Amino acid sequence: MIETIGVVGSGTMGIGIAQIAAQNKHQVVLHDHSEKQLSKAKEGLDKIMKRLVEKGRITESERKEINNRILFTSNMGDLWPCGLVIEAIVENITIKHEVFKKLEEIVSDHCILASNTSSLSIASIGAALNKSERIIGIHFFNPAPLMPLVEIIPSIQSSKNTSDSAKELITSWGKTVVICKDTPGFIVNRVARPFYGEALRIYEEGIADFATIDWALKELGGFRMGPFTLMDYIGNDVNFAVTESVFKAFFYDPRFKPSFTQKRYSEAGFYGRKSGRGYYHYKNEELNSKANKNKVLGQSILDRIVCLLINEAIDAVFMGVATTKDVDLAMTKGVNYPKGLLQWGDEIGLEVVLKRLQDLFDYYGDDRYRPNPLLRRMVAKKKKFYS
Ligand SMILES: NC(=O)c1ccc[n+]([C@@H]2O[C@H](COP(=O)([O-])OP(=O)(O)OC[C@H]3O[C@@H](n4cnc5c(N)ncnc54)[C@H](O)[C@@H]3O)[C@@H](O)[C@H]2O)c1
Repeated sequence: MIETIGVVGSGTMGIGIAQIAAQNKHQVVLHDHSEKQLSKAKEGLDKIMKRLVEKGRITESERKEINNRILFTSNMGDLWPCGLVIEAIVENITIKHEVFKKLEEIVSDHCILASNTSSLSIASIGAALNKSERIIGIHFFNPAPLMPLVEIIPSIQSSKNTSDSAKELITSWGKTVVICKDTPGFIVNRVARPFYGEALRIYEEGIADFATIDWALKELGGFRMGPFTLMDYIGNDVNFAVTESVFKAFFYDPRFKPSFTQKRYSEAGFYGRKSGRGYYHYKNEELNSKANKNKVLGQSILDRIVCLLINEAIDAVFMGVATTKDVDLAMTKGVNYPKGLLQWGDEIGLEVVLKRLQDLFDYYGDDRYRPNPLLRRMVAKKKKFYS
């Protein structure tokens, strides 16, 4: 039973993870090297906790207890009693290595060391440790207290005990846990790429504008937001950086090729909501074009993007990144997709998905449309993902 949880880095993710651990009755040691950041994190958490009391989600005495359970500290040595430390610092392998080396000198031999990294491999982070069997990826989504999904990523060094303990603990916090292989983008950031990439490609080919593509995905497909609205929300710069890093990490597989349109929007400072302009204008919304609500066009856009997403989900299963169930859970709980993609594939008919991909592949001669071998095999054997 792990009593004390350490969190390193009190930024966007670290403070959320500390809040979850404290709400689950753990003593929490939240360390940041910046005193200024620690005060900001403390203030931010105070506000959130007060709002939870106002909304009746917790009582005033619970709020005090939760606050009292978190030690905000710039002294890394305070992490010594922790049974698990989750690192959530800047995404830089050299700095992460320094932190993990120091951590190993402070904590006991039994302490599990986890990283919340989005884009670095867990194997590369674990390489800094003497006892690398204690490394694990525990990937929360933003905002951590609200998003139900957590991806747990055992690396080739992780012991079974490390991954079992991490899984048991995070599940006990009420999170939906999926287990995935230490591969670029883990599940969600890998499988979701075509949602953005294929939408950009459809726009670049002049098939439809941003508003029409968004309308098709949202209204006809049931996605919470269309891809361009979502990219503007995430930040075009952030989304482009993830796409570029996944593309590089997959040794430039054309399936993940980034888009020049997104690069130019990002270079121009059209980041989205935060900069007042992205694919849409947020200061003067009258400048935005209206969707062409032609159902035949909309359905063809939706079919194309969904088939690419399904192909990607199938590839994650084919390559042993995660199970069918976990791939579907990851996309519904991590990015709120209206359905699991493999279930969706079954519903459309895998033979229909294969035909659509094959038509695209024949037309473009581009590897990004190549149907996955598992899809071919399942169609040949008339199988489904769910019986
Ligand atoms: N922001 C997201 O949406 C998101 C989602 C999932 C995972 N992640 C991952 O979580 C990690 C943190 O991201 P973030 O967005 O919270 O970053 P952030 O910039 O908001 O916070 C990072 C914090 O780490 C602190 N820090 C930096 N170097 C340190 C050191 N050597 N010792 C102690 N503290 C140090 C900084 O002072 C800062 O407070 C990254 O690995 C990122 O890839 C981020």
